[in-house]
Amino acid sequence: MFKIRVLIRIGALYFLLFFLISFWYSSKVELHESNLESKHRLAVIVPFRNRSSELEQFLPHMNAYLSSQAIDHIFMVINQADTHRFNRAALINIGFIESRTVVDYIVMHDIDLLPMNSRELRYDYPENGPVHLASPIYHPIYHYPTYVGGILMITCEDFERVNGMSPLYWGWGREDDNFFVRMKLAGMKLYRPYNLTTNSSNTFAHIHDKNVHKRDYAKYGQQKEEGRKIYPEMGFNTTKYTLINKSILKTKTGVEYNMLDVKLECDYNLTPWCDHPMTTNISK
Ligand SMILES: *[C@@H]1O[C@H](CO)[C@@H](O)[C@H](O)[C@H]1NC(C)=O
Ligand SMILES: *[C@@H]1O[C@H](CO)[C@@H](O)[C@H](O)[C@H]1NC(C)=O
Ligand SMILES: *[C@@H]1O[C@H](CO)[C@@H](O)[C@H](O)[C@H]1NC(C)=O
Ligand SMILES: *[C@@H]1O[C@H](CO)[C@@H](O)[C@H](O)[C@H]1NC(C)=O
Ligand SMILES: *[C@@H]1O[C@H](CO)[C@@H](O)[C@H](O)[C@H]1NC(C)=O
Repeated sequence: MFKIRVLIRIGALYFLLFFLISFWYSSKVELHESNLESKHRLAVIVPFRNRSSELEQFLPHMNAYLSSQAIDHIFMVINQADTHRFNRAALINIGFIESRTVVDYIVMHDIDLLPMNSRELRYDYPENGPVHLASPIYHPIYHYPTYVGGILMITCEDFERVNGMSPLYWGWGREDDNFFVRMKLAGMKLYRPYNLTTNSSNTFAHIHDKNVHKRDYAKYGQQKEEGRKIYPEMGFNTTKYTLINKSILKTKTGVEYNMLDVKLECDYNLTPWCDHPMTTNISK
């Protein structure tokens, strides 16, 4: 008799405790989730090298543009401060690594492509999948259907899921085509703006001066053939670099940004083309 009464009491106590704890827990979780929902934060990642005058144009423009859309954002300018050929993908990976603890989505952004349609072309959190803002329909120059360069927005979660970008591309081009395949292999749906009232001549301003900044189209050795391979195991987790300086700077007009000076490490066995042949001896 006595035993049963005790057992019932203990049982009731357990039941009450379980009920209280689960109630407390669910209210916590709810609070946490609604917090996250209203608190998206974007890192604008700008691969950079010796383009100070374009930076003075890009940052004030983007700051006004994003502020007009109430997008909480930070600027991450990743300056390649070594003597290797430019590696846009590695710089984007670094921008992701160095900002992922404070943002939940990123936009990889060419410095010379300024969005002009702030009413329709938005930088909101890409919750359904990656958003290619510089769509081939609206880009002033590139119109091929698999083009995903220029401006691409993606959540940190999705970027991590495809292991970021392949860091094996030195010189100009193709790293974005590789990224297109990565997204596709991961089954991600790519979104693009559509039905804008602007067109390819006024959705973006292209401020690139080919005569001042010559593009590095050179291909050495197996570079061209290798560039067609995906190497999914290479990505942000294999990008080797030294962060030599990180500072918070301001443009002349007072826009704050993070400037990260980085030295990339080249694996000469994997990519002997990371330097131009003539400068190989000097830069090592
Ligand atoms: C930086 O760019 C300018 C042109 O804007 C050029 O004259 C200069 O040589 C470049 N400096 C380096 C270190 O590449
Ligand atoms: C774009 O606009 C056209 C014509 O106004 C319409 O038929 C079409 O459904 C729109 N596209 C989308 C994806 O909404
Ligand atoms: C784009 O739109 C502008 C303004 O409506 C127009 O003047 C221009 O001709 C259009 N350009 C193209 C390539 O359709
Ligand atoms: C990097 O991530 C890829 C894909 O998740 C994995 O295959 C590879 O082993 C990782 N490499 C390192 C060095 O962690
Ligand atoms: C880091 O960058 C800042 C801003 O450009 C500069 O003032 C400072 O001298 C740099 N520090 C080093 C160690 O290079």
